[in-house]
Amino acid sequence: MKSKGRVGILLSGRGSNFEAIYRHSLDPGANFEIAAVISDHEDARGLTLAKESGLNAFFVSPILLKPKAAYEEKILEILNRFKVELVCLAGYMRIVGKTLLHAYGNQRIINIHPALLPSFPGLHGQKQALDYGVKVSGCTVHFVDNGMDTGPIILQKAVEIKETDTEEDLSMRILTEEHKLYSEAITLFFHDKLKLEGRRVIILP
Ligand code: GRF
Repeated sequence: MKSKGRVGILLSGRGSNFEAIYRHSLDPGANFEIAAVISDHEDARGLTLAKESGLNAFFVSPILLKPKAAYEEKILEILNRFKVELVCLAGYMRIVGKTLLHAYGNQRIINIHPALLPSFPGLHGQKQALDYGVKVSGCTVHFVDNGMDTGPIILQKAVEIKETDTEEDLSMRILTEEHKLYSEAITLFFHDKLKLEGRRVIILP
């Protein structure tokens, strides 16, 4: 039997996507496991959850480790130590720098964004969608490149916007979909079903 794919999570806060991915990884049929969790915030809820779950969980300080290359070298050392094959950004509030991109940039870092890219990149994708007045938004899992939410799109899920929606209502409905979509993308990745053609990600049958 093929060994399970090794996922490394980078997060900064709540960590509900990490939780959903972790829960999925515990399914007997899952084709991946969480090899390491790294946070740039010592008090991130996601980091606490990871530690409580007995996972390899670490705080890496971007304040103490400067410049950015030194901070990312430390992250890289952990990713290598735990033989991480795919890095999943899960509410990681930093731009991935050259060091990580160089090591994992070859379609081995993915992110989830709470809007249908290329619409509403950056912060507060849900609020941007509401303010713009679109009728449909959603979430996107994409490969990470050196831009802000610009990498090739792997999966998207649409979510209808209701006229009565507050930012919180919409965020919660999108989040429910994020929690399913992220594990779906990771599963496809480790089944070798993602093929990049130009900037299109073809999902192999
Ligand atoms: C999610 O909405 C995700 O799309 C965005 O940041 C948020 C993280 O939430 N990138 P959580 O920390 O996973 O709960």
